[in-house]
Amino acid sequence: MIAEHPPLPQNISIAELPQMPLPRAVLVCPPDCFDVVDVKNPFMEGQQGHVDYALAKRQWLEVMRAFEQIGVEVRELPPAPGCEDMVFCANPIFAGLDSDDQRVCVLSHMRFPSRQPEVAAHARWYRENGYRVVEIPGGLFEGSGDALWHPGRRLIWGGYGHRTNREVYTRISRVFDTPVLTLELKTEMFYHLDTCFCPVDERTVLVYPPALTAEGFEMVRDVFPRVIEVEHQEAIQAMACNAAAFLGKYVVIPRGAPIAVRKLRELGFQVVEVDTSEFLKSGGSVFCMKMYLF
Ligand code: ARG
Repeated sequence: MIAEHPPLPQNISIAELPQMPLPRAVLVCPPDCFDVVDVKNPFMEGQQGHVDYALAKRQWLEVMRAFEQIGVEVRELPPAPGCEDMVFCANPIFAGLDSDDQRVCVLSHMRFPSRQPEVAAHARWYRENGYRVVEIPGGLFEGSGDALWHPGRRLIWGGYGHRTNREVYTRISRVFDTPVLTLELKTEMFYHLDTCFCPVDERTVLVYPPALTAEGFEMVRDVFPRVIEVEHQEAIQAMACNAAAFLGKYVVIPRGAPIAVRKLRELGFQVVEVDTSEFLKSGGSVFCMKMYLF
């Protein structure tokens, strides 16, 4: 379960892990070329030709407005022609800070060749914006679709099984000098970790347990004192776990998950709901429409 670099104590106590700043900015990419042209995940089945482009653009702007209202700085990467999935900025790279608080990112090896050109565009942007850009050899890896920072701590959660090979986390752990807890993704539907697991703050997570193994879910429960289990319907139809949390108190969540929203509000989070119906047709929503920047 654990890629041990540096080794984690058997009983993981979050409070003992070094702190890490929370992201205050995001990188996004306008959906100018967005479309569903093939089936890369079960959400895309039967959706070719069904995207309403004008609506997609309006929904994307609504997501941007939600980020800005919270006070998050929004940086933009221009879309590359022919890259229909490029709006999903979370996938071609995984960005963060190393243990000296230096900006660093690791390039993805996308499972589908049609998404590979996105990686070069991201690499360029990150290089120009002061990140050390690291390429790791071999193995599939889909960036922040599968690798997620534990909010506020030097710990990475690493999903694997569909778009990412588990072995890559040994290298990633080394690059960021941070332990990685790996979670196997059991179902076709929840193909990226960000489709079923959303760390909201240091102590709280939104999760859809059936997407994980029993041991994986156990580990999640060991680490997070507050586990919000998302209902089947909300996890699939609204992609409720593909939410983005900011500054330990805000959550931007796909509309259509009233139960998850109520639970988050009961815990004191300020929740903004946004309609992302057009992006759900491609199997993505709020979380993967941005990359957290540090
Ligand atoms: N159509 C895209 C794909 O299948 C969606 C990616 C969504 N990203 C995510 N992290 N869930 O690659």
